[in-house]
Amino acid sequence: MTRIGFIGAGTVGTALAVRLFQKGCSIAAISSRSLSSAQRLANLVSGCQVYSTAQEVANGADLIFITTPDDVIAKIASEVRWRSGQGVVHCSGAHSVDILEAARQFGANVGSFHPLQTFATVNQAIENLPGSTFALEAEEPLLSQLKELASLLNGRWVELKPGEKVLYHTAAVFVSNYLVTLVKLALDLWQAFGVPAKEATQALLPLLRGTVNNIENIGLPNCLTGPISRGDLGTIRRHLATLEAQDSSLLTVYRDLGLETIPIALAKGKIDENKAKELKTLLKEA
Ligand SMILES: NC(=O)c1ccc[n+]([C@@H]2O[C@H](COP(=O)([O-])OP(=O)(O)OC[C@H]3O[C@@H](n4cnc5c(N)ncnc54)[C@H](OP(=O)(O)O)[C@@H]3O)[C@@H](O)[C@H]2O)c1
Repeated sequence: MTRIGFIGAGTVGTALAVRLFQKGCSIAAISSRSLSSAQRLANLVSGCQVYSTAQEVANGADLIFITTPDDVIAKIASEVRWRSGQGVVHCSGAHSVDILEAARQFGANVGSFHPLQTFATVNQAIENLPGSTFALEAEEPLLSQLKELASLLNGRWVELKPGEKVLYHTAAVFVSNYLVTLVKLALDLWQAFGVPAKEATQALLPLLRGTVNNIENIGLPNCLTGPISRGDLGTIRRHLATLEAQDSSLLTVYRDLGLETIPIALAKGKIDENKAKELKTLLKEA
């Protein structure tokens, strides 16, 4: 059985180790910056040996995940003497497999295995990891091995070619990070009419969930609702005037997102080209 090792016992390392262990994988070796983190992870997966160096993990495992912060992955890859044929994988969404070049020079099979998911805490990561999509970069035989791991985690995978990682990660920022930003902007507006952030969050969550449900069940473009989908120029005019009076810095965001929404409304078919032009003019002049 493939012996899996982890260098970095943080959020992602722990979640992967725990979930793969639960699926019958052998988690053989772990090291981290601090022994206490490594020990905490080892306590969750029996049979796992804690080491004080990355080199010892490389010596004691066949497939090693470097699950440290992005900025130290290349350094670790270059400090370890890897074995030929060994698998060395990182989980960064922003970096391609190229940052493992030093390991490749030793004859290791290098890859990246990025869970397209947001993990704020270890427990929540363990909970949310199964069913995620994994972005894979690797060549055979490592690629097949990583696909098997994604399947074990009930996930799907997308294979990325060299150079595609940055676009892929930018898309993830739109869907996850900027969604948080949009919620923050909405909360700020709610505070202007006196509802504190905590209550406003509770009030907005059903809308957020409903939107996600519609994306899942109806899909784009038909899941789009709201004034742009209906071509409601008067409503949009009122939004623009209110924002100008309330917080003109939000006008740009509202305008730019609105302009990106018009083609979706057109594709849905509830507005025609003439209405789309009117909407564009109104937003561009804002
Ligand atoms: N969090 C997410 O939402 C998410 C999602 C997808 C992918 N990722 C990727 O997953 C990777 C890990 O992220 P994370 O969120 O799990 O980070 P994290 O929770 O901060 O964990 C990183 C771990 O690396 C350890 N570490 C730091 N420097 C080290 C070094 N020089 N040598 C050995 N261990 C070191 C830390 O050690 P100590 O605890 O021992 O101090 C910590 O346990 C990153 O590549 C990240 O881009 C993260």
